[in-house]
Amino acid sequence: MERELILAAHKVCKAFGPTRALIDVDVEVRKGEIRGLIGENGSGKSTFCSIVAGALEKDSGELELHGQKYEPKSMVDAQNHGVAMIVQEAATFPRLDVASNIFAGRLEQYTKGGFLDWKSIYDEADRILADIGVPEIKGRMNIEQLNFEDRKIVEIARAMVCKPEILIIDETTTALAAKGRKLIYALIERMQQENKAVLFISHDLDELMERCNTITVLRDGLIIDTLDRENMSIEKMRSLMIGRELQGDYYRPDFDGSHGGEVLLKAEHVTLRPYFKNVDVTLHRGEILGFGGLSNCGMHELGRLLFGLEKTLTGSVTLYKDGKEISISSPDTAVDNGMAYVSKDRDKESIVLQASIKNNIVMPAMRQLTGALGFVSPKKEKTLSDTQIKVMSIKCRNGNQLVKELSGGNKQKVVFSKWLGTDSDVFILDCPTRGIDVGVKADMYKLIMELKRQGKGIIMISEELLELIGMSDRMLIFKDGKLAREFQRSADLKENDIIEYII
Ligand SMILES: Nc1ncnc2c1ncn2[C@@H]1O[C@H](COP(=O)(O)OP(=O)(O)O)[C@@H](O)[C@H]1O
Ligand SMILES: [Mg+2]
Repeated sequence: MERELILAAHKVCKAFGPTRALIDVDVEVRKGEIRGLIGENGSGKSTFCSIVAGALEKDSGELELHGQKYEPKSMVDAQNHGVAMIVQEAATFPRLDVASNIFAGRLEQYTKGGFLDWKSIYDEADRILADIGVPEIKGRMNIEQLNFEDRKIVEIARAMVCKPEILIIDETTTALAAKGRKLIYALIERMQQENKAVLFISHDLDELMERCNTITVLRDGLIIDTLDRENMSIEKMRSLMIGRELQGDYYRPDFDGSHGGEVLLKAEHVTLRPYFKNVDVTLHRGEILGFGGLSNCGMHELGRLLFGLEKTLTGSVTLYKDGKEISISSPDTAVDNGMAYVSKDRDKESIVLQASIKNNIVMPAMRQLTGALGFVSPKKEKTLSDTQIKVMSIKCRNGNQLVKELSGGNKQKVVFSKWLGTDSDVFILDCPTRGIDVGVKADMYKLIMELKRQGKGIIMISEELLELIGMSDRMLIFKDGKLAREFQRSADLKENDIIEYII
């Protein structure tokens, strides 16, 4: 007999600009069901879960909860409907105590005579923490006293406050050690016994097979298949996840993975807790070196470390320039010595949205444009900015237009222009084509090839396997904070050969 439905999604769609993150997604989850969600980076798992948990609004489609139309207005609203999510990113509030983190958004319910009743708040927090199996964490503790794992456990406690009917766990176990994992598995079991439901996102295929009744595979925003226990196998899941169609032939056409030989940048035994340990990287002149892996495999943080934005615990990062060896320990030394970095989160880090295109473009080049007396020549600034706008075909009125008014793709071109103006030798590009449309993507790939031709060294960090295979001379695949495998450019290299080193 089929069990009662808890959650039903009908034709749910969501786009971010040109990216179609979810396309007509239908999902039905029943009482007592542990539903696994799997798919490559960017396949839409977090987007779907965020919509169900009230963190994102869908563009179209319907959600039903217990047979009723369900349109959560916020995460707290979703929690009040019995849907709670533990998100992929860290989501505790700094400087607050543990209890305030657990009851974030719902502290008012503990008001007595117009004041917050802190004794009740702390008692209740302690009770919830003990209930999920961590009596050693207390409501009064400052969140900053806790390590990464215990903070994640506080988020789990927050999710359990409202006694959810549906618990959504988004790639949480990956970040946790044995203690946190055991705690999550115990909660999953309890939810199942209480006839509730769990949506469980993980890249650990064994873990999914062991814990789930059903596993849904997503690819490019589409539901590809849902497997029940009889049909589950690791090979099957892998083969359903991959097999994306190459759209257009905008990657480089050659399979010549050679480079100039000369070493431009070298990282030896670098370590950044908790992301990676003892990693070596060598970048050569005229080389496109791809970094690949899951979004939390440490490759983004490694890119930051190579640019001096993070400090290594062991080993060193050395830049080789004009016969000199320069130790890279801060972004200032990196910029001064001809390194460029494009961050994944360009709205936050790379561009000043409120400033004009011109000011953004000339910013990193400032040192070179500064005359003997320390003044920047406005004429030189304008020339540089106008040249870059033309070379990059940035769609804008003129250099004085504000960056925030541009489309995602054109913003990305401004980011690139900034660094091209500096005549850098080493480019670290973190997800350079994230969230931009196909046309601009093609421009980016051309530009990266042009940099290679000029003998620059390029590190391209990407969550898209096809892009890595399509563009890299060499690829480093990271998994669990270690280098899992290195691949050379080759016409025969397929997603299938790489995926097993990623998950
Ligand atoms: N806030 C956002 N802005 C722009 N694009 C986004 C945003 N969130 C997700 N995306 C894009 O939507 C797609 C699906 O992302 P996501 O749901 O996070 O995938 P998954 O969790 O399966 O890795 C990806 O192409 C991603 O780049
Ligand atoms: Mg995700």
